[in-house]
Amino acid sequence: MKDYSPFISRRKRLLEKLGGVAIVPTAPHQQRNRDSHYPYRFDSHFYYLTGFPEPEAVLVMVGGENAKSMLFCRERDEEREIWDGHRFGPARAKEVFGFDETHPVSALEGMLPELLKDQPSVYHPLGADEKWDAKVLTALNAVRAQARSGVEAPENVADIRCLVDEMRLFKDDYEISLMRRAAQIASNAHRIAMRTARPGAREYEVEAELFAEFRRSGAQAPSYTPIVAGGGNACILHYVENDEMLRAGELLLIDAGCELDGYASDITRTFPVGGKFSAAQKDVYEIVLEAQLAAISEVKPGSTWDSPHEAAVRVLATGLVDLGLCRGSVDSVVESGDYKRFYMHRTGHWLGLDVHDVGSYKSGGKWRALEPGMALTVEPGCYIRPSESVPEAFWNIGIRIEDDVVVTRQGCEILSFDAPKTVKEIEDWMAK
Ligand code: GLY
Ligand code: MN
Ligand code: MN
Repeated sequence: MKDYSPFISRRKRLLEKLGGVAIVPTAPHQQRNRDSHYPYRFDSHFYYLTGFPEPEAVLVMVGGENAKSMLFCRERDEEREIWDGHRFGPARAKEVFGFDETHPVSALEGMLPELLKDQPSVYHPLGADEKWDAKVLTALNAVRAQARSGVEAPENVADIRCLVDEMRLFKDDYEISLMRRAAQIASNAHRIAMRTARPGAREYEVEAELFAEFRRSGAQAPSYTPIVAGGGNACILHYVENDEMLRAGELLLIDAGCELDGYASDITRTFPVGGKFSAAQKDVYEIVLEAQLAAISEVKPGSTWDSPHEAAVRVLATGLVDLGLCRGSVDSVVESGDYKRFYMHRTGHWLGLDVHDVGSYKSGGKWRALEPGMALTVEPGCYIRPSESVPEAFWNIGIRIEDDVVVTRQGCEILSFDAPKTVKEIEDWMAK
C-alpha cells in the first residue's frame, strides 16, 4: 500500500500554523462535451495535503487546542462503482489516508456552521470557485446569525493558499524523487522524439511518440499540452497545433513533460530534423546553450530568483551583438531591452505539482533568495522571425533549451540531465 505519511506530516505542519478552520475543496470533474469528461485531475493544494485522488471531496482542518483533519468524500455506492469505478468511502479513507475524521461529502454544508463557531479565522482558496466562495459565506452568515446566543463568528477570512504555497515551494525528498522520475521519463521521451523526427513526418507523429513513452512509463498524463514546433513554428511561443510537416534543414523545438503522481516535468530540446545543424543554426544554438549553462550555474543558495535570468540575458545579448542581430554595446542591448526582439520571455518558473508551480518570486519587494528544496526550470531561448533587418540564414530559427533543476546545499541537481543537449550529444544520438 502507498505510504501516505508525507501527506499526514504536511497536515500536521499546517495545523501548527493554522489559527482557525481551513476548507480546501478538490477540483470538480470537468465536462468536455455531452456525456464526456476531461480526464480527472485533482486540485493541487487539496492533493498536497491529502493524497486523496477522488473528485467531490473536501478537506476541513480545524486548528487550535483540539486540532483535527477531516475529509468529506463520496460514500460507497455499488451502482455508481459498477459504472465509474472504485470509491474509498469515508470509513476506508480514514484508515488509508490517516484522517482524524471522515464524513460523507453530503454532510458538509450542514456541519460547516458548527465547525466555524468560536473560531477566529476561516481559510479558503478565496476566489478560486464562486460556488465555494458562496458556500463558505453562507456558513459564515449562519454562524453570525447565532450571535445573540453567545456564539462568535470568525472575524477573518483569509486565503489558505498563502500558507500552503509557501510549504509547496520547498520540496521534500518524497517530492524530489517523484520529480526525478518524471524528468527521467520525459528525457527518454525526448530521446525517442529525436529518433522519430525525419523530413516528411508530421509534427503529430513525434507528439504521438511522446505520449506513448509517457504512458508506457507509468506517467498519468502530459503535464501540459506539448509544443512540437518545426521550423518557424518554434517562433510561436505557445504553438500547440502540432500538425505540420517536418522539413529537411529545419529545426524542431519540442517542449514536453509528463505528470507522475501529480508532479510535473517540463523539458525543451531543439534539434535538426535531418540530424545535422547548419552553420547558422549551430551559431545560435551554442549561444542559447551557453546562456542556459550560465543560468544553471546561478542556481544555488545565495543567488536570487533573478540571478539565472540576468546571467542568461547577458550571454544572449553578447551573442546577438556578435552575430550582428543587435547593435551597440552589450550593456546598452541589455539596458534598452533590445534583446527582447529575440528573447521575450523569462528564464524559468517554479515547478512542482503545477507546471508553473506556486510560490512567490519576490519578498518585501525584492527577488527572493534561492534555497535548498526549491525546484525550477531554466529555459532561455532565441526566436528569430523573418525580418529585413536579419540575414536570411537566421530566419525561422527558434531555439529553447529547458531543464528542470532543484536547488541543493552546494548548487543544484539537474533532474533532466539525460536528455541530449550539446550539439555533439544531439548529432551523435540522432546518427545512431
Ligand atoms: N511548458 C511550459 C513552460 O515551459 O513554461
Ligand atoms: Mn517551463
Ligand atoms: Mn516548457
